[in-house]
Amino acid sequence: MKILGIETTCDETSVGIVKDGRDVLANVVSSSASLHKKYGGVVPEVAAREQVKLMVPVLDEVCHESGIKYQDIDSFAVAHGPGLVGSLLIGVETAKTLALTFDKTLIAVNHLVGHIYANWLTPKVNSKLKIVNGKEFPLVALIVSGGHTDLILMKGFGSFQLLGSTRDDAAGEVFDKVARVLGLGYPGGPEVERVAQQFNVQSSNLKVKFPRPMIGDASFDFSFSGLKTAVVNLVNSTGYSSSESEGQVEKFKGYSSRQARTIKDAVMAEIAYEFQEAIVDVLVKKTFKAVSKYGVKTVVFGGGVAANSRLRNRMSHTGLKFGVNVLFPEKGLSVDNGAMIAAAAFFEKDFVDPLKLQANPSLHF
Ligand code: KG4
Ligand code: ZN
Repeated sequence: MKILGIETTCDETSVGIVKDGRDVLANVVSSSASLHKKYGGVVPEVAAREQVKLMVPVLDEVCHESGIKYQDIDSFAVAHGPGLVGSLLIGVETAKTLALTFDKTLIAVNHLVGHIYANWLTPKVNSKLKIVNGKEFPLVALIVSGGHTDLILMKGFGSFQLLGSTRDDAAGEVFDKVARVLGLGYPGGPEVERVAQQFNVQSSNLKVKFPRPMIGDASFDFSFSGLKTAVVNLVNSTGYSSSESEGQVEKFKGYSSRQARTIKDAVMAEIAYEFQEAIVDVLVKKTFKAVSKYGVKTVVFGGGVAANSRLRNRMSHTGLKFGVNVLFPEKGLSVDNGAMIAAAAFFEKDFVDPLKLQANPSLHF
């Protein structure tokens, strides 16, 4: 069964064609992130306007890449929420139009559920990822995206129990905010990861320490706004926040601009490193607490933050200790993409009337 999946919940315009929920025949992702860079976060109107422009070219490209015509598609699928309302509307109306025009069925997909099913997409042959077969239900899924941090017990296809969520900021949102105060670009996660890698753990003495909010509490909930505030306060107290160049900073008087930059870079790397450790510590602890409580043998991840190498390494390492299978989608399939929507559509088959489907910005589990 060939499904064409459309994903326009945030700043991506993406379309994927997937066969039988696993084989990616084509997956095109176009992001408007560069237009949001100077604002340090997504501007909803700008994102939606770009999606209007990009939708048809992206559809054309995915058909061209796969060599598949709309007539050969068995079903169209779309992420109808959660997400930004203007962005969701573009994808939803496009999918409805395609289903009606080509007289095909339409499948509605929860964007978050899509992130989980990205784990069912077969990695490309040359992927460095170890291919581990046999996901065993029940399994624990952690979704860490720009808008959500959700820990889920998945009992089977279509059966999800929400164990815990963030009570304030999502993990990705905090990465973006920290990147902004460190003067880095958007999206912030990959930037913070890059800068954190410049901190040399072996030769440096870690002086910065951030809180690990709710790490030891009884619930499966998360809270990251306190951590965010701690980072912002520390950056501001260093005397060189992102808005100031080294030349303007009092403490760099007497230093050459090269010396000043070296000192600043080292401090920023240490802050990025310790921030990333704090967030990963909490995510590892809560995920494996759920693994123990429910006696599961498989953990899967989804959402943009699941592309983070430190998170992947720490989770994999802990998985070995617990003797459980720890699986990640390929990095490109962790972030928003149309293929994961097509995969979820295949396994869930939530058929809807194309005349009735509406965008649902606050859809949850
Ligand atoms: O799932 P996603 O593509 O979109 C949403 O559904 O929100 O996630 C985007 C989020 C952004 O906050 C971005 O900074 C974060 O994922 N992200 C990362 C990395 N790559 C993307 N966070 C940490 N490390 C990364 N390598
Ligand atoms: Zn997402």
